[in-house]
Amino acid sequence: MNITDERILTLFILQRVLEENAFLSPLLLYHSKKLDFKKRKFLQKLCYETLKNLIFIDHIIKIFYKGKFDKLEPFVRTALRVSLTELLILKRKPYAVCDSWVEIVKKRNIGASKLVNGILRNILRKGVPEFEEEWIKYSIPRWLFKKLERDFGKDFALNFAKWYHSEPPYYFRIYFKGDENKVRQEIENSYLKKDFPLSRFSFPPYCYKSFYHPWEADIEENYYYVQDFSSQAVMHYYDFKNIKYVWDMTSAPGGKSLYLSFLLNNKVKILATELRKGRVKILKENFEKYRIKGWVVNADATQFLPEKEFDLIVIDAPCSGLGTIRKKPEILLRMTPEKIKKLSRLQEKLIDNGFKALKKGGYLFYITCTITREENQGHIQNIAGKFDFELTEPKVPEFLISNNYFFCNGIEMDSDFMFGMLLKKL
Ligand SMILES: C[S@@+](CC[C@H](N)C(=O)[O-])C[C@H]1O[C@@H](n2cnc3c(N)ncnc32)[C@H](O)[C@@H]1O
Repeated sequence: MNITDERILTLFILQRVLEENAFLSPLLLYHSKKLDFKKRKFLQKLCYETLKNLIFIDHIIKIFYKGKFDKLEPFVRTALRVSLTELLILKRKPYAVCDSWVEIVKKRNIGASKLVNGILRNILRKGVPEFEEEWIKYSIPRWLFKKLERDFGKDFALNFAKWYHSEPPYYFRIYFKGDENKVRQEIENSYLKKDFPLSRFSFPPYCYKSFYHPWEADIEENYYYVQDFSSQAVMHYYDFKNIKYVWDMTSAPGGKSLYLSFLLNNKVKILATELRKGRVKILKENFEKYRIKGWVVNADATQFLPEKEFDLIVIDAPCSGLGTIRKKPEILLRMTPEKIKKLSRLQEKLIDNGFKALKKGGYLFYITCTITREENQGHIQNIAGKFDFELTEPKVPEFLISNNYFFCNGIEMDSDFMFGMLLKKL
């Protein structure tokens, strides 16, 4: 019998994610630091694969469980979901998997362990049906798969689904106050010593990529900031060198402010507003840690109107985050068409308020990590009716430009998706 800590931990973590709306990656980070490398990787894999295959797995459970799926005790439902992921997705030794999970459930509820045993063994005996529907096969909500097909074509929908199931690498940018070469050497040597592959980019200029997190390579915390390729690249949209005052309207945890301040040699002053109190704390810590000049304010940026006018307004908008679901699959499971509509309205309010606080000749930099038109270029129509502006062409490599907007295609770049537009107020 092999009741591993990782299985119990997976159950505990996924209970919190699936039943209490918690986010996966902070829980994983917290719990996996206590485990050795092999166990950590197993825990991560099992958690991610369960979430990424949830729709498919739930379809299977609904075929083999004769009762009401929604009425299953949450603990039993999660145990079934994880055990089936081990069996059907990770293809681990069937009877060992069954025995372990039955034993785990038995510790809490003997009756339920019989149910789990029956379902798992029945599935092993009869095998699972083939689903014709791509959205079930790839575990993408039906409404979203249809929307992707409708808006971007069938090929894109399928490639997006495949991208979702691929393993995301870590991207980070180096952070140095003095000698860049020394920091680079330390980082590259640490990865080399551990035999962890590491790629260095020429664009964005401070970017590294690896399937191993910098802390696994024992890199000093002050030397790096984990930030996706797309988030680094978008900050090179334009050379903001004459900018003095910036309002980063929706700013926590501060990644964009930090990058901007770094690119401009800490010569700008940034007003950073953030709605959520918990995130303001992290934002303040980052402003202090990286010595960003400016002010951090807990405020609703749709309402807040600062007294002064700004040269640059950054709106890294709250969005559906569909471009980040490879790393945050729980976002996909919680998103709905209604939520997208609501987010689009919130973004519209942020843009309107941002334009009011912008100097004539100043720039509004609108960014999202999603792909829906209504959250991206769709906003142009609304702005056109209210303000005079022109779209500024991105000064980034061509593969990151689409119709004069910044667009990082996560499938092509092996990264998150990101959209950006820079509007000059006339
Ligand atoms: C995409 S994140 C920003 C990420 C940040 N720019 C970075 O690079 O680290 C969007 C942020 O907007 C915040 N937010 C949402 N609605 C807001 C509002 N009305 N006013 C201010 N901040 C808001 C969210 O809490 C979230 O922290």
